[in-house]
Amino acid sequence: ALGSPTQRRPGSRQRFVADLSQCLFDFVIQLLPTQEELAVKEDVRKLLERLIRTIEPESRLLSFGSTANGFSLRNSDMDLCCLIDSEERLAASDLVTMLGDLLERETKFYVKSLPHARIPIVKLSLDPSPGLPLGIACDIGFENRLALENTRLLMCYAMIDPARVRTMVLFLKVWSKRRKINSPYKGTLSSYGYVLLVIYFLVHVKNPPVLPNLQQMPPLRPISEEDTHLNGHNIWFFDDIELLRQRWHSDNNESVADLLIDFFRYYSRDFPYNTGVASIRAGLLKKDSKGWQNDLSNQRYNDARERNRLCIEDPFETDFNVGRCVTKDGLYTIRGEFMRASRILASRPERAIVALAELCE
Ligand code: GTP
Ligand code: MG
Repeated sequence: ALGSPTQRRPGSRQRFVADLSQCLFDFVIQLLPTQEELAVKEDVRKLLERLIRTIEPESRLLSFGSTANGFSLRNSDMDLCCLIDSEERLAASDLVTMLGDLLERETKFYVKSLPHARIPIVKLSLDPSPGLPLGIACDIGFENRLALENTRLLMCYAMIDPARVRTMVLFLKVWSKRRKINSPYKGTLSSYGYVLLVIYFLVHVKNPPVLPNLQQMPPLRPISEEDTHLNGHNIWFFDDIELLRQRWHSDNNESVADLLIDFFRYYSRDFPYNTGVASIRAGLLKKDSKGWQNDLSNQRYNDARERNRLCIEDPFETDFNVGRCVTKDGLYTIRGEFMRASRILASRPERAIVALAELCE
C-alpha cells in the first residue's frame, strides 16, 4: 500500500529526512540526565573526595568519561579519577585497598576493590533511591591523566557543533546499547570506541568536514615540548572553542539525519576493516604501518590477530587500539547492525518515528 520508494511523490525523501532529524532531537532530549541526577552525582563525587582526603590529603577526585564530556545519558555510570598532587604518595594498589576498606566502613556503597588489576580501581554501586531511581555505578581510578585529557578532547568536539555531534553520539550510544553491541567484555565495542568512530567520520570522511581536526590545528603561540607531552604522548589540541567558533566554520550543512544515514552506510560498506585504522589524529591509516596486521598466518600471532579486527587509534596513546576487544564474531555482529540500520533508513518507511523505533528495537 505504501508503494515502492520510486513511486512516491517527489520531495517525500526530503520530508522523511527532515522528520527524522526532528525525531532524533526529540528522542535524545528525553534520554538526557535530569538536573536532579546530575546534582546527586556531584554530591556523591564530593562525598567520595572528602573521604579519600582522609587517606591522601593532597588528592582531588575528578569526573571523566560521559559525565564530563557532554555525552551522558540518563543513569550512565560515573567514571572518577583520583589525582594526587604530592610527591610522596601511596602506590595505587595500596590506595585502592585502603580506600575500599574505608568506603565499606563509612558508606552505604557496595564496594569491590581491584588492587591488582592492570589499572587498579575501586568499583562502587548504590541501590535505587528517590533521587536515583536506577541506583548508581561508579569506578574510581588513580592518576589516569590521559583519560582526563581525552575526555576534554571529546568535550571540545561536542561543543563545536552540539546540535549535530551530541545528537549523533547520544543516539548511537542508545542504539548500540539496545542492539547489544556495546560490551567490550563480550567482544563488541566500548562507548568510547563509538564516539571515536563518529568523530573520525565527521572530521575525515565527510567532505566538506563537519568538524576540524583539533589535534592538527596550529597553536596560537609556540608551546614547549614539556607542556604538550604526558607520559611520552603528545596531548596537545586546539581547545579555545570560543575562538574556534569565531574563526572556523563548517561548509557542511547536512542535517543530523543525513549524517546518521551516511554514517551507517560508511561503516557498513566503505570503511576498510581489513586494512584500515581509523585515526582522528591522522585520518585513515594502514594497519601495516602500525604493526596492527590481522592477516598473519603464523599460529603464534593468533592472539594479535583477534585483537586487531577493528582498529581505532586512541587520540593520544597512538600505540593503543581502542577496538582491541572486538573479536571476529563481535565485528561481524557490529557490521551486521550497521547494515540493518542502513537498510531500515534506506527503505524509507512512511514515518520517521517508526523507523527510529525499529532501529532501536
Ligand atoms: P557510558 O559509560 O556508556 O555512558 O560511556 P562513556 O562515554 O563514559 O564511555 P566509556 O565508559 O567507554 O569510557 C569512559 C572514559 O574512559 C572515556 O571517555 C575515556 O576517557 C576512557 N576510556 C575508555 N576506554 C578507553 C580505552 O580503551 N582507552 C583509553 N585510553 N581510554 C579509555
Ligand atoms: Mg562511562
